[in-house]
Amino acid sequence: MRKKLLFGNWKMNKTSKEAEDFGVESIQLLEFANKKNVEIGIAPSFLSLATLIKANPKLNVASQNCHFESHGAFTGEISIPMLKEIGVSWSIIGHSERRLYNNETSKICNKKIVSLLINNMTPIYCVGETLEEFESGKTKEVVKKQINEGLANLSDEDASKIVIAYEPVWAIGTGKNASSEIAESVCAYIRKLLKDMFSESVSETVRILYGGSVKPNNIKAYLENPDVDGALVGGASLTASSFKELIANI
Ligand code: PGA
Repeated sequence: MRKKLLFGNWKMNKTSKEAEDFGVESIQLLEFANKKNVEIGIAPSFLSLATLIKANPKLNVASQNCHFESHGAFTGEISIPMLKEIGVSWSIIGHSERRLYNNETSKICNKKIVSLLINNMTPIYCVGETLEEFESGKTKEVVKKQINEGLANLSDEDASKIVIAYEPVWAIGTGKNASSEIAESVCAYIRKLLKDMFSESVSETVRILYGGSVKPNNIKAYLENPDVDGALVGGASLTASSFKELIANI
């Protein structure tokens, strides 16, 4: 049985002080989530990672990005050993905003995923199509390429450790969420791709999240689907009260 996973992606929101306040509130959130058998986590900005971990050492904390090299002349970048040293054990990879504004390709994502796995960290690999691709019926083609390139050359053992987030670009931050049927059909398709690329056991182990305008009032419909194992949530993860409602409605 795959445990439900709810991750908040704060993007470029919250100062360290605001993150610290949430961190304190998250102690109760975590107790509530544990009672509901839901796993939770937060991806704050790089500057707030250590703050959040200090405020609640039991919370899963993810970076929103990382570099694939362990060190070197990469101005403005953060390495995996730097993250590991402060207790970060997850990283979002290939979010559509990074693909769009920072030219991240699935091949670059693959290098990051490989480096994270070597370091025993969990990648949350994001895939999803743009509005134009969706409207021209190319969703599966786009997602297949992102999965094939992003997860290339992984062993079955490594592949089974990752988390995938299906986030249609047109649904992110727009309030235009994909229907529960679309989310299920693409997540089920991703599971089939994992079976073809790796094995049935990998496809049954990997958790696949839906993301894109998930709110307390629609999360239930997504998570009732057999192939949607959780959600990656932006806007609705920013306050402890909204985060609590998300957990409550799973
Ligand atoms: P949103 O963001 O929930 O604000 O649409 C989701 C995401 O980008 O992960």
